[in-house]
Amino acid sequence: MDENAVQRIKQLKEEKDVVILAHYYVDGEVQRIADYVGDSYYLSKVATKVKEKNILFCGVSFMGESAKILNPEKKVVMADQYADCPMAHMVTPERIAEVRAEYDDLAVVCYVNSTAEIKTYSDVCVTSSNAIRVVERIKAKNIFFIPDNNLGRYVAEKVPEKNFIFHDGFCHVHKGIEASAVEEAKRLQPEALVLTHPECTMDVLEISDFIGSTSEIIDFATRSDADKFIICTEMGVFFELMQKNPDKKFYSVGHRQFCPNMKLVTLDKVLNALETMEPEIILEPEVMEKALIPLQKMLELAE
Ligand code: 13P
Ligand code: SF4
Repeated sequence: MDENAVQRIKQLKEEKDVVILAHYYVDGEVQRIADYVGDSYYLSKVATKVKEKNILFCGVSFMGESAKILNPEKKVVMADQYADCPMAHMVTPERIAEVRAEYDDLAVVCYVNSTAEIKTYSDVCVTSSNAIRVVERIKAKNIFFIPDNNLGRYVAEKVPEKNFIFHDGFCHVHKGIEASAVEEAKRLQPEALVLTHPECTMDVLEISDFIGSTSEIIDFATRSDADKFIICTEMGVFFELMQKNPDKKFYSVGHRQFCPNMKLVTLDKVLNALETMEPEIILEPEVMEKALIPLQKMLELAE
């Protein structure tokens, strides 16, 4: 780690009144300099509470956008302007309008991994750690779950009283974790527990011992009496897993557990963003106003 860069980051943060938020999928050296590190739900809650005038987001654009929508008066800067989640663009307003026309008593439930524009057409947002709780508390019978098909199907199994309409969005990183690779990892480490993110495909979820968000996976491993775990999510979580559990062993299921967008965030780019206070998240006031409604609804229902 470049100690000079770290010192300069600390100094600029103070001088410019900036708080740094980072997702568990960015590199460990970036997680280490962040003020808050967490999953998408935790980071959106933190964004509503921080006192600093400026937020520097180390993650992908939908995360920075959510922080901005929840804090319109703050300046939100991204560490990398191109770090974007492909899944966030996998549903269109036209498709939402079609489903709305087809069903009465419908709630459009939008995984937070979506653009600010898509949130403006949605009734409520969810993250992987609160989706079941939020959907259970929605009054509507019909749920159009966008954009992630895998998370939607997982939630549908847990909330059978609702009628789900699914979309075909996916995360290429989690979809790339194949059941055969997990089986092979289990063959090599038969005592290890399999901990999986719900963006993975159903066949992987079926052979898992625990399913949860990044934070939930870390908490589960930390509290567990077991000492070996096969981790089915993006490799960034290994940093916190190993920090918290130096005596436990964590195994990957191959080289595909890598989100190229999250890995665009580097220490040098964090420093550069602090120096220039750019790239800033800029959204139309009308988009911010409308997208705030489903985000606030999520925070309310997830409590
Ligand atoms: P969580 O932060 O909810 O675990 O979601 C993971 C993810 O894919 C974020 O892009
Ligand atoms: Fe998007 Fe998947 Fe990367 Fe998360 S891991 S940011 S869902 S591409």
